[in-house]
Amino acid sequence: MGLQLFTNATEFRLACEQVRCAGNTLGLVPTMGALHSGHAALIRTAATRSTHVAVSIFVNPTQFGPNEDFNRYPRTLEKDTECCEAAGAVMVFAPSALEMYPAGESTRVSVSGLTAGLCGTSRPGHFDGVATIVTKFFVLAGACTAVFGKKDYQQLKVIERFAKDLLLPVRIVGHPIVREPDGLALSSRNAYLSAQERAQALGIVRGLSSAFCAFKAGLRQPIALVETAVAELNRHGLVPQYVSLVDADTLEPMGDRPVTDRALLAVAALCGRTRLIDNVVLGEDPDPLPANA
Ligand code: PAJ
Repeated sequence: MGLQLFTNATEFRLACEQVRCAGNTLGLVPTMGALHSGHAALIRTAATRSTHVAVSIFVNPTQFGPNEDFNRYPRTLEKDTECCEAAGAVMVFAPSALEMYPAGESTRVSVSGLTAGLCGTSRPGHFDGVATIVTKFFVLAGACTAVFGKKDYQQLKVIERFAKDLLLPVRIVGHPIVREPDGLALSSRNAYLSAQERAQALGIVRGLSSAFCAFKAGLRQPIALVETAVAELNRHGLVPQYVSLVDADTLEPMGDRPVTDRALLAVAALCGRTRLIDNVVLGEDPDPLPANA
């Protein structure tokens, strides 16, 4: 089956409808392109759950802040479509900004609570942009199973929330973080890193892993767990934007409540000019640092 490329929203919507009308099921993987093996893993997972997989490729302007990397974000559509096809997608939707945001557009989807902390603090307005564009993709796709990565854990929670609140006919699946052999979480932004920064960036997963090990050894105090991770980030010369231990469902800070069962340890750090994020759910996920790294 060949890959169909759509740039027109109505045509994409009709093609999604046709998939269901023919008695098949639709999988959806929204992306911003510059696809890597993390994205490919999401597409393959979507293909195990649905007969037909659509990938959207759209660098969404409304989720970038004024001083962020919208303009220099890598755009590699041709390579991306090859990646989609190799991973088992049959449709790619790569619209223009005007197609997704018609002239005069003035509507946003905004989720409160879950967006208050973590990246919501360091990137004001970011999640309104994400929630708005993903709602549009869900509206076009219709009933489907959509796969999102846990690397963007807060994003996944926000999407689960508005899909439920807006009664959208979408089943949401979270996919584990895909890492390089040395542990660095795959990200389109890793392309920005110099060789020296690439080495420094490992401080993030090493920080998460040292907190993981401390937790495994019995440490339960949030402040001490966070300090363990921060020490490793500092040792690598990284500038943390936040290192936070929060409730894995509500994303509310643990404060000084000892972790009883599970909690999300989330990190955002600047590596040179590049902002990287990563996380581990203590009490649930395996050690984020591969055994032989
Ligand atoms: P993007 O950064 O391209 O990521 C697309 C999807 O791939 C997201 O669900 C993200 O969590 C997942 N992903 C990225 N790196 C991953 C990794 N190393 N392991 C597992 N999953 C990974 O996230 C976005 O785009 C946008 O915000 C989007 C949802 C498309 C809305 O514009």
